[in-house]
Amino acid sequence: SVGKSTNIKWHECSIGKLERQKLLQQKGCVLWITGLSGSGKSTLACALSRGLYNRGKLSYILDGDNVRHGLNQDLSFAAADRAENIRRIGEVAKLFADAGIICIASLISPYRRDRDACRALMADGNFVEVFLDVPLQVCEARDPKGLYNLARAGKIKGFTGIDDPYESPLNCEIVLQHEGAGASPCEMAEKVISYLGEKGFLH
Ligand code: PPS
Repeated sequence: SVGKSTNIKWHECSIGKLERQKLLQQKGCVLWITGLSGSGKSTLACALSRGLYNRGKLSYILDGDNVRHGLNQDLSFAAADRAENIRRIGEVAKLFADAGIICIASLISPYRRDRDACRALMADGNFVEVFLDVPLQVCEARDPKGLYNLARAGKIKGFTGIDDPYESPLNCEIVLQHEGAGASPCEMAEKVISYLGEKGFLH
């Protein structure tokens, strides 16, 4: 699907990323939250967005579930469609980061290769992969949408963690253990925000 647009030329504008970042007093980047369904990605994304807002920093969440209601409503959960879901969200996230915004992408993104392709879209250091490391048993016990139950009953085919793969990151910037291991969503968000601070994204 890549490469069908021909005879196109990149157009530069005199207002660039640096000006936008100066205006916003922050640096645009992509925070990529990956983890199983029910691991708390959306909750963490919201806590992060709130924590950043409280510091006067602008963020925007691209949530897999939400984007599938619009831009990605044509995509299934087959591996090729998940890859396309992730590719599109990666490209949109890149645009948000270029706008100077801290873009929080929260989606299962089960394949390492797909996440790495999104990382490759960004300049070094501007893609921060956050692994919400919550064991399958914990996600399944929570089952906030009842989907694990349906998957176990065979009523959903190809459900991540049940009969579809999830590849944990090998080398991501931040690993967050699940709430049962002690940290609340707010505490996890603070850890990520501290990281952003240390890396110079917040001024
Ligand atoms: S992916 O793999 O990154 O393309 O998935 P994502 O866009 O994040 O969408 C995940 C949400 O879709 C619901 N859902 C499923 N998840 C996994 N596997 C299958 N087969 C499936 N079918 C529907 C589920 O509610 C996921 O939401 P979260 O927020 O992750 O729990």
